Amino acid sequence: ISMESQSILSASEWIAKLYHHLLRYTKDGNEGYRYFKDRGIEDDTIDAFQLGFAPNVKDFTAEFLKKKGFHQQILVKAGLLSLTENNIAADRFRSRVIFPIRNHLGKTVAFGGRTISDQEPKYLNSPESELFQKGKLLYNFDLAKKHIRKQSEAVLFEGYMDVISAYQAGVKNAVATLGTSLTDSQARLLRRYVDTVIICYDADAAGNEAAYKAAELLKKTGCQVKIANLRENMDPDDFITEFGAEQFQQEVIKSSLTFTNFYMRYLKKNYNLTLEGDRIQYIEKVLEYLATVDSSVEREYYLQEINDAYNVSMDSLKQEIAGYRQRMG
Ligand code: UTP
Ligand code: MN
Ligand code: MN
Ligand code: MN
Ligand code: MN
Repeated sequence: ISMESQSILSASEWIAKLYHHLLRYTKDGNEGYRYFKDRGIEDDTIDAFQLGFAPNVKDFTAEFLKKKGFHQQILVKAGLLSLTENNIAADRFRSRVIFPIRNHLGKTVAFGGRTISDQEPKYLNSPESELFQKGKLLYNFDLAKKHIRKQSEAVLFEGYMDVISAYQAGVKNAVATLGTSLTDSQARLLRRYVDTVIICYDADAAGNEAAYKAAELLKKTGCQVKIANLRENMDPDDFITEFGAEQFQQEVIKSSLTFTNFYMRYLKKNYNLTLEGDRIQYIEKVLEYLATVDSSVEREYYLQEINDAYNVSMDSLKQEIAGYRQRMG
């Protein structure tokens, strides 16, 4: 690791401490503290994630880091500061609550900042650097690792707040991607530690789409995939806030659905099932997928479901599946 990276790591650690201290113990950080309190985040959780607050001051960290002897260009390069037209260093994060992003060794390599009003973007992240490549990191992997290993299971979320709420609700094997789709590298990282990944994305159209893609990738990597049983249009953090930790654990995580169950519902969005032709196409599509399911018990289980729902005989369903399987070799 280069001298430059070393220096950036050290500056990042200072900034994380500074933002956290401001939020936790000073009047200037009270807005940030109130923000998390209003969202139900407790002091212990604030500390565990080293959550912080960046005040609305142009040169808050710039001044601090200068006094600590850091070179400005390096901090600009790391995206901790940005330059104004007159070449004056200005803070990247202002009037935002701060989520330090740690790498798998627990070193802070970047920050996410959420507006506490309604600035755009809602979340601002550090730019990518030698130390911070979004596609290679999972948020909270450093804290979650030992739980992930012990349970041989990880729960994958979309957002910072989902991970933090879940962690507070006792789901400690929680990680998230950082505002991008799951990458191959992240999938392989998880596979090294788990058999099963529970995908717990937002239960909206975008979330379902992303969940499907993540599931495909994880399966390719050799993970078992389950899909959390979240109510329509909620995100995990909303659910926890509204219904509490116990219900989240029991109804959402422990009652996760098989990928097949999820997929059979997910597919429906492409069809108008009141139309006979669409209904048939939908059933064909499901059969094509079921043919790839290894467990004959699972295949039979969902065939029964189709048999019940659409009144197609088990014989013809099985015959169709057999055809697909033969073609697959
Ligand atoms: P969501 O839009 O689902 O936000 O984005 P959220 O996590 O539920 O946010 P809250 O509850 O309103 O605070 C999920 C994740 O996508 C990334 C962030 O990592 C966020 O946690 N994101 C979202 C961005 O990077 N930029 C954005 O502007 C929005
Ligand atoms: Mn602390
Ligand atoms: Mn979302
Ligand atoms: Mn969300
Ligand atoms: Mn949310």
